[in-house]
Amino acid sequence: MANIIIFGVLDTAELAHFYLTNDSEHTVVAFTVDQEYLKEYTFKGLPVVAFEDVETLFPPADYQFFAPMTGRNMNRNREKVYLAAKAKGYTFISYVSSKATTFGNQIGENCFILEDNTIQPFTTIGNNVVMWSGNHIGHHGRIDDHVFFTSHVVMSGHCHIQSYCFFGVNSTIRDYLTVAEGTLLGMASALYKNSDPWGVYIGNPPKKLPQPSYDTY
Ligand SMILES: CC(C)(COP(=O)(O)OP(=O)(O)OC[C@H]1O[C@@H](n2cnc3c(N)ncnc32)[C@H](O)[C@@H]1OP(=O)(O)O)[C@@H](O)C(=O)NCCC(=O)NCCS
Repeated sequence: MANIIIFGVLDTAELAHFYLTNDSEHTVVAFTVDQEYLKEYTFKGLPVVAFEDVETLFPPADYQFFAPMTGRNMNRNREKVYLAAKAKGYTFISYVSSKATTFGNQIGENCFILEDNTIQPFTTIGNNVVMWSGNHIGHHGRIDDHVFFTSHVVMSGHCHIQSYCFFGVNSTIRDYLTVAEGTLLGMASALYKNSDPWGVYIGNPPKKLPQPSYDTY
């Protein structure tokens, strides 16, 4: 049970506040944004403070941090905030919905795992991973850091998902695949073979686009 600072004041921050308030033992006490985006000083009836000052007002010894955020820029915007708050000395919570199905899986910090995710036994999840609602995460898998599953993704058994991957809605990953760092699998697209780092794959069967994922999303 911790007092939590949430990064951001947009939709995901509002949702994080909602989920933590209604479905966790934690208490949200404040929001923080970069100074240049600090326009309103309260949000959801709580203070909004500049990220530049947050550790002075809410010391890392007394408060924990949560920065779920967008998958934009192939998860690297979220990674940047996660590492910056870590450098200030904060520790992080993870939120796992009480309506998700888990089996004692190892789950890292700053993860945001919403309702109706099924995470089968013997699959591990790294740090800073977002799973929006309703994904099937198969057994004996490994998900590295800074990964984003949107909704209704099927990750079959024995897959290794490397860092920075992004999976569009309703996408499908065959069993035993290694999905390379920074892979973007488009909505309703299927991956049959191991992917190339920072590749973009769309359709079923999939077509690899010429541009890298960091120039796409
Ligand atoms: C892969 C993706 C990032 C490409 O986005 P984009 O660069 O803006 O591409 P566009 O929408 O301009 O489409 C370019 C072409 O690819 C096709 N295309 C795009 N995504 C496709 C997909 N997932 N499957 C098949 N074809 C696709 C488009 O039909 C279009 O074809 P055209 O040139 O013949 O008209 C995007 O389509 C996608 O799948 N995003 C994930 C969306 C998602 O899951 N959102 C959940 C909420 S976070």
